[in-house]
Amino acid sequence: MKRYLRKAKNLAAAAISSPRRYAQLLSQLGSRLRAEQYVLSYREQGAPKNETIAPPANPLREYFENHTEGHGIWKWQHYFELYQRHFSKFVGQSVNVLEIGIYSGGSLDMWHSYFGAGCHIYGVDIENACKSYENEHTTVFIGDQANRGFWKDFRSNTPPIDILIDDGGHTPEQQRITLEEMLPYLRCGGVYFCEDVHGESNDFAAYATTLVYELNHTGDLNGFQKSIHSIHFYPFCVIIEKHAVEPERFFAPKHGTRWQPFFDK
Ligand SMILES: C[S@@+](CC[C@H](N)C(=O)[O-])C[C@H]1O[C@@H](n2cnc3c(N)ncnc32)[C@H](O)[C@@H]1O
Repeated sequence: MKRYLRKAKNLAAAAISSPRRYAQLLSQLGSRLRAEQYVLSYREQGAPKNETIAPPANPLREYFENHTEGHGIWKWQHYFELYQRHFSKFVGQSVNVLEIGIYSGGSLDMWHSYFGAGCHIYGVDIENACKSYENEHTTVFIGDQANRGFWKDFRSNTPPIDILIDDGGHTPEQQRITLEEMLPYLRCGGVYFCEDVHGESNDFAAYATTLVYELNHTGDLNGFQKSIHSIHFYPFCVIIEKHAVEPERFFAPKHGTRWQPFFDK
């Protein structure tokens, strides 16, 4: 109950500070409800069945499957395809990888094995015991990812990061604060990968969905559009990629000499 009261208070404050934007958001509720109706039919019937295709080789999945002893790794199996899709461009490069949530240390070794000798891994965990996973290619910071002061210290002690994997406490607030503090600090071309975004009414998913709308802003490109290339949603994951080269504008030139007349009416 307290949680809902707090939310209502925040909404009222937002409505007062930005009434036009608030009215726009309210008007989008109809589309959300329609989408929920549409999904209901999928839930009952399922999607039409197509032929299945064998998944391509995936070095991270292989590493995980062969890793039956030693420091523990705990990942959802369907993440391996997503890692390969979004991280493979960094393999063999000089890359700085940050993973929030170390637990038993095995994923830190997995990243190092995947990206190669040129990578440096930064691990963050709230538990002091995780400091023991430090070595020549791994630096561990102990702190709370929901603490903005912790991230300020982190930034002043590390070079810009190429890849951020948020596998920490998984609450929407922790995920939001981590994104807000660290997304601007990711290098051009960098990838932000937030894991374990669970549930249909997840607050972090709602937050990230609102970021998506900003990509569709028309007119001069704003700073967000110049920095953010794309936002991806997968089961339990939100992934944001930054532009490798900032665009100055989006434009849609026409090429060709023969055109239908109906557009010029
Ligand atoms: C799911 S485990 C990480 C698993 C690990 N990445 C792996 O792949 O095996 C989550 C970790 O997040 C840490 N954690 C929980 N809350 C945190 C917080 N507020 N800040 C930083 N780390 C946190 C926990 O101590 C735990 O070690």
